[in-house]
Order: sequence, then structure tokens, then C-alpha cells
Amino acid sequence: MTRTSPEALSEAEAAAELARLAGEIARHDALYYRQDAPEISDAAYDALRRRNAEIEARFPDLVRPDSPSRRVGVAPEGGFAKLRHLQPMLSLDNVFDPAEFVEFCARARRFLGLGAEAPLGFVGEPKIDGLSINLTYEHGHFVRGATRGDGMEGEDVTANLRTMAAVPRRLHGHAPALIEIRGEVFMAKADFLALNAAQEAAGEKVFANPRNAAAGSLRQLDPAITAARPLSLFAYALGEASEAPAATHWAYLERLRSWGFTVNPLSRRLDDEAQAAAFQAEIAATRAGLAYDIDGVVYKIDDLGLQRRLGFVGRAPRWAIAWKFPAEQASTVLREIRIQVGRTGALTPVAELEPVNVGGVLVSRASLHNEDEIARKDIRVGDTVLIQRAGDVIPQVLSVVTERRPQGAQPFVFPDHCPACGSLALRPPGEAVRRCTGGLTCPAQRVERLIHFVSRPAFDIEGLGEKTIQEFHDLGWLLGPADIFRLPEREAEIAAREGWGALSARNLVRAIAARRRIPLARFIYALGIRRIGERNAQLLARHYGGYADWRAQMLAATTIGSEAREALGSIVGIGPAIAEELVEFFAERRNRETLDALAGLLTIEDAAAEVAADSALAGKTVVFTGTLATMSRPEAKARAQALGAKVTDSVSAKTDLVVVGEDAGSKARKAAELGVRTITEAEWRALAGMEPAG
Ligand code: IVH
Repeated sequence: MTRTSPEALSEAEAAAELARLAGEIARHDALYYRQDAPEISDAAYDALRRRNAEIEARFPDLVRPDSPSRRVGVAPEGGFAKLRHLQPMLSLDNVFDPAEFVEFCARARRFLGLGAEAPLGFVGEPKIDGLSINLTYEHGHFVRGATRGDGMEGEDVTANLRTMAAVPRRLHGHAPALIEIRGEVFMAKADFLALNAAQEAAGEKVFANPRNAAAGSLRQLDPAITAARPLSLFAYALGEASEAPAATHWAYLERLRSWGFTVNPLSRRLDDEAQAAAFQAEIAATRAGLAYDIDGVVYKIDDLGLQRRLGFVGRAPRWAIAWKFPAEQASTVLREIRIQVGRTGALTPVAELEPVNVGGVLVSRASLHNEDEIARKDIRVGDTVLIQRAGDVIPQVLSVVTERRPQGAQPFVFPDHCPACGSLALRPPGEAVRRCTGGLTCPAQRVERLIHFVSRPAFDIEGLGEKTIQEFHDLGWLLGPADIFRLPEREAEIAAREGWGALSARNLVRAIAARRRIPLARFIYALGIRRIGERNAQLLARHYGGYADWRAQMLAATTIGSEAREALGSIVGIGPAIAEELVEFFAERRNRETLDALAGLLTIEDAAAEVAADSALAGKTVVFTGTLATMSRPEAKARAQALGAKVTDSVSAKTDLVVVGEDAGSKARKAAELGVRTITEAEWRALAGMEPAG
């Protein structure tokens, strides 16, 4: 279509065209954002906006109040609103064999201070790989529903859940005034195949597997689409509740049924480990004939009181475990051994494979662990190798089929220089990993750190994927994490790049803006310091409370023998190796500069805000000493931390409270000397809101 150039337009023509453009662009925004169904390409959309801008430049007086150039942000901003879960939604740790399952049970008994032979009952439930959701009921009415999201907050999909027959609008019979009910939304195998056939016939996209189909169907901006999709739901867990709905998980499942939910009919009450193992074998044998895909069985300790005491560590409960079905194996040809450079400089060998189907998943890459493993298994390029895939872990190379080794295959020589930057790669004595010494001068380390920085548990910036990071890095736009928050200045340049456009550039800028506020724990985790995973980041955040304190204390801790160094080492859960990594990080000037640059660009929220404000222990430093009679040390510490307390190993003037068990020694004496408050185990139970020991 030829268009009159803006110069040649009369004022009346210009006004008419601006009105048309405003309407048209608004319509495309709605199609794109609200219905997930754009009618025109990004390029065509950009052309409309450019035309609008050109005419406005020529006739500034004609700029409309509803002009697309004035509108920053169409509501809703690219999707669903966020909903915070009242109780975090956890994931599960995995076991793969009876011995690992027995060890899980032993750990739980130890934590509870039970004898090795003490009875422990379970409920076994088939594990469906769908999409977990959180349903909130108030006075028996369904009021809100959200996806799991990051475990703390998910996407508000209430309207879509309301279209599902399996989600009761009202709970039958008596229900707590407030309750969060969790379950799995999934699609049965037959429904998945039928949906894909229909999608294909209509020229729509087909889904890779039932899980994606379920997620894609629930996360629709138009609930009418969800309503038309065959989604099922099994209810299986409890979040927040204003009153305990049952004493055991088994009884809770019964209540879920009575309220109107579907509970997986294969779920079973099991008395001990032996019955669990038998159940595992039974479910494995029926797996192929089930209407839906499962990848294992979830075992939950039945007693809800014990579940509460066990709590969780990191993202997984201590009271439940997923026992996955055995790994699937296949053999294929090893094409190449590629050396990846990680964010801490670790050189990791990766097997590039002739793609092969392993239990329904096409595998073209597998882990080779480290150089010793390659040598021990004598893995050579060209070999036929046996690979294994288990659960969601990365496929592994198990062994070489030596009879099929091609002539002339040479043993693999592990590089002693970084393949990315050429720096020396050193392997400290006693360690399995060789590391690039290039630090931040190594482009691979820089890129990996950025990828980690924006990952989901860290800054979680949507639209800034690995490819984009690499692209912007290579352009020199993104050399360190602080540059991310300077990207908005380049919105126009980004929009002009191949594969981008005004819309995607704007979305990226918004996603970045949305993350300028960040909780301290996430911030610390994002830095990618070795050995500082999510859990340790959280410990540090809770302990130091605010960014400024943390920074000051870490800096002080770089001095050997300083009080700050001692304090760091005595935080329970932070061992000397972790303290060492932190100190090393802070000793590096460039790291401090990066931190300061980030702090100037961001609002880093204090950790104290996360802790229950009504907890008398929030922010207090607690030391346990002596033998506790009614709970194990780990349980006591976990409880204290859950209430916002900092637990340390040594008593100092900064200690607020010393819990004194039997046969307490020097720590109790020191507390008395320093005038630190000491309490008995029974007093501690009362303070921590634990039931009095019976
Ligand atoms: S319980 C602590 N029960 O598995 C509570 N989860 O790997 C954690 N899942 O996010 C959830 N079937 O999506 C639970 N019967 C079941 C489950 C189940 C499938 C999924 C769920 C969860 C994931 C954890």
C-alpha cells in the first residue's frame, strides 16, 4: 500500500489518520496482550507506530490524548496479575531406589528425635507431571487460584480455574473459614492426543507433551479457551488453613473428597517402608495402562503434626519425597566433547550426541561430569556410549560400548587452557574441577554470570534469555549485571535489531523496570558467589537484615581475625568454606564496584520484612547449648530460623538468647558472665509456639 508522505498530508487528513492509527494500534495491543493472538507481524505493528510517530512529528498540535505514543503500557501488562501464596508452594526432592527411600525416612526420624525403629506411616500417591495450582477458599467459596510460580507467588488464573468442572465453586459441608487447597492440573493422554489432532487440523500449534498442553490451556488470557480444553485435577495438599482440617494426610484426602474434589483413587495409606516399596512396584507395573502419564510416586508422612514439625529445607519438605521410576537408558554415538565454561570458571565437559530417543525424550547432550570421569571411563570421541536419563536430571554418560570403538579413536585430552578466553585453567590439588583463571575478563564467565543473575530464583527477568544475553554481551551492551538496568536507555536500538521490534523491546524494558526492587536474599543469590545457593543466600539475608549491613560486615570480614569474620563463621549453616568464598568475593575490588553500581540502581529490600512481624524471635540471635530432650538440635534450629531468628554457635555480647539443655557447659557459663538471657527447653517451646512436651 502506498501512503501519502506526512509532508503531503493536509491537517484534516493527518487528524483523520491519527485517529485511525490510534484505534488500530489499540486493537493490535489488545490482540497481542489480552488474547495472545496477534493478527499482524511485529514488523507490521512497528510500521504502524512509526507512521503514527512521523505524522505526530509533523503535526505536533494534533497529538491525541489517546495517542499510542503517549500510552505507556496496555493493561494488563503482558499477562496475569501476581498472587502471593499464603504458604509457600514447595517442590519435592527425588529418590530412585529403596536404599535412598530408607535414608529419607531415617533422616526424618533423626530430625524428629525418633528411634530408628519407630513406626512411621505414609500416604503414597502417583506423581503426575502436570501443573500445580493453589486454590483459596473463604467460607467455603472458591475466591482465588494461582499457578505455583516461583513458590512464593504465582499467576492469578482464577477466571480460568472457574471454568473447570473439577474445581468446586463451593465446598460441600463444613470447611475452615480460610483454606488453601493444592493439586495438580493435568491432561489425560487421550485428551492430549485429541487436542493435538484438533489443533493440527485447525492449523494451530500442537503441544509437545501433556504437561505443556495443560499449562498452555490454563494460562490463557481468554477463559473461554480454557473452558474448551479437557483439563483434569487431582487435589493432594494443604497450604494455609484457619483450622486444622484433619490430623492425618489420609483423613485430609477424605475431607477433600467430601468437599467435592477428585483425589487420585490409587492413593494408599502405607504403614512402613516395606509397604511403600511394595506400592512402588505395584504402581510401576500399572503405569503403562493408566489414563495419564506418571513419573513416580510421592510419599508423604501421614501425621500432619509430624509434617508441621518437619517443615522444609530450601524448596523441599522434609516430610515428603518423590520416588521416581528407574532411569531410561539408550546407546548412541558421541560426536564431540565440548568444554563449557561455567559462571565460576569451572570447565565442564559435555557430550554432544547423535540424537536418540530415551524414554520419550530426544536427547542430544549429556553430562560427562569432569576430566577424571572421562579418563576413568575412557570415553573417546566416536565411541558408542550408554546414556541414561532419570527424572528431570541432565542425561548422563554411563559407559562406553568398547566393542564398537572406531579404529584410531584417541583418548581425550582435557584442555589446560580456557577454551573461551585462553587463560590458564588450573586444578587445585584435591579438587575434581579445573577452573579458568580469567575471572571477569573471560567472556564465557561473564555471560554465565549474567544468565545466573537473571534466572528465576534470582532477578527473574522475563525476555532476557541466554541468546539475548549473549547477543547483547557481544555488542558490548551487557558486560556486567549493572548494565542490565541501563538497557532501557537503549530501547530504540534494541527495537531496531533483527528479530526485535518496538513491542518486544518495550516488554523487555518493562520486565527490567519491574525488577528494580528486589529482596536481599534474591540479590545475594543473584551475585553467583560460589557455594552461595538460594538457601545460604537466605541465611545471610536473614542474619544481616539489610544490604548496607551485609556489605559492611562482609568487608570487615575480609580482615582475618576480625569480629565480623568470627561472626560470619558462627552463623549456623555457613561453614568455613562458605565464609571463605564470601571473603574472597569481597576482597576483589571489581566485585565491590559491581555491588556498588547495582546498589545505586536498585532498591534492595531488607530481609526483616519477610519475617512474620508478630514473631517475638524475629531478628533475635539465638544459641542452643546442651542436650535437648524433646526435640533434635536440627528441629530446634529450623524452628528458630522459621520464626526469623538467627542461630549461631557461639555466645557473644550480641547474643539475645541462650537455650540451655541438659549438661550445658561453657556456653551457658559465658552467657551468665555476659548477662545474656538464658531459658530452659520448656520455656523455649512456649516461646517458639511449640506444644508443651507430653
Ligand atoms: S505434593 C510439598 N503430591 O510434583 C508438597 N506433588 O516435584 C509438594 N506433584 O510441584 C507437592 N503429584 O506439581 C505433591 N501427589 C502429589 C503430586 C505432586 C505431582 C508435582 C507437583 C509438585 C511437583 C514436585
